[in-house]
Amino acid sequence: MSEIELKVKEILDNALGEITSADDLEKLNSVRVSFLGKKGSLTSVLKSMKTVSPEDRPKVGKWVNSARAAIEEQMEAKRKKLDAARLDKQLAAEKIDVTLPAKMKFIGHRHPNTIALEEVERIFTGMGYEVIEGPEIEYDDYNFTKLNIPANHPAKDEQDTFYINKEILLRTQTSPVQARVMEKGKLPIRMISPGRVFRSDEVDATHSPSFHQIEGLVIDKNVTLADLKGTLDVFAKELFGPDTKTKFRPHHFPFTEPSAEVDVSCFKCGGKGCRFCKGSGWIEILGCGMVHPHVLEMCGIDPEEYTGFAFGVGLERIALLKYEIDDMRLLYENDVRFLSQFN
Ligand code: DAH
Repeated sequence: MSEIELKVKEILDNALGEITSADDLEKLNSVRVSFLGKKGSLTSVLKSMKTVSPEDRPKVGKWVNSARAAIEEQMEAKRKKLDAARLDKQLAAEKIDVTLPAKMKFIGHRHPNTIALEEVERIFTGMGYEVIEGPEIEYDDYNFTKLNIPANHPAKDEQDTFYINKEILLRTQTSPVQARVMEKGKLPIRMISPGRVFRSDEVDATHSPSFHQIEGLVIDKNVTLADLKGTLDVFAKELFGPDTKTKFRPHHFPFTEPSAEVDVSCFKCGGKGCRFCKGSGWIEILGCGMVHPHVLEMCGIDPEEYTGFAFGVGLERIALLKYEIDDMRLLYENDVRFLSQFN
């Protein structure tokens, strides 16, 4: 055996040895580079061909080519083996245990305030009312003056009101939406306006600095107190059950004349008196009245031609009563254990 033939054989043996011991694709690739690459050892045999006598060159070429073919064949076989092993490993690592319990999707639900609001909206839209929203940041003028609460009226006491500046405040009631809608001049009006209101109140079981009201307003020709009473009676029966009775107690609100507070017969004891209604048989639910002629005038409506009524309901109060919740704070704390009862 010539020296070159021995060398090629040695290269082939080394290459096959390294292929056998290569345990990943990267190592296999570096075997290719070190034997078959441009600077590889087998390639360098070809490069040294000029030192071989011309008659021996075909032989040497044959040895090198057959060594190259053997190396390539082994490499390809090894590559397939490594590939299969890699895939097996990946499949094992990504195996899905179909016997594991599925992760439950947690789907939320409406807040009790929202449930109560949608109920009130259902009742009034059913009677042909529109739902109109107004701004939470309001002019003092709309919140007070246009509602017949002039500059030095005690209801304006700065203690209960969050002022942003002298003219702008966080609305203390939804009543300013009345003035905004009347000013638009589109008559007749039949609307409710739900929304958030703000008062500088300490938090306790029945108070919060931010709560919700639903305002109601009807303006048309020949609207009377009988319409107001009939409407709110239907509302109370729809909300608390068909046996509910209503009682109108005279009261004072600056923007209505006459004004009243409305009580409903206790839906817990039917009016006999219980802990829920504090023994009286009645529960107060809202304020209302006939829109004051001066308010109509200030909003550009002729009180000789048009009359109307208005009312204001506390949304939280409705939710507390309807779902027998005894502390308003529960509505804001968003404790899932409490809220999930309304699912
Ligand atoms: N805005 C009143 C309040 O916050 C509630 C109210 C009373 C609204 C009588 C009205 C009404 O529209 O006519 O206490």
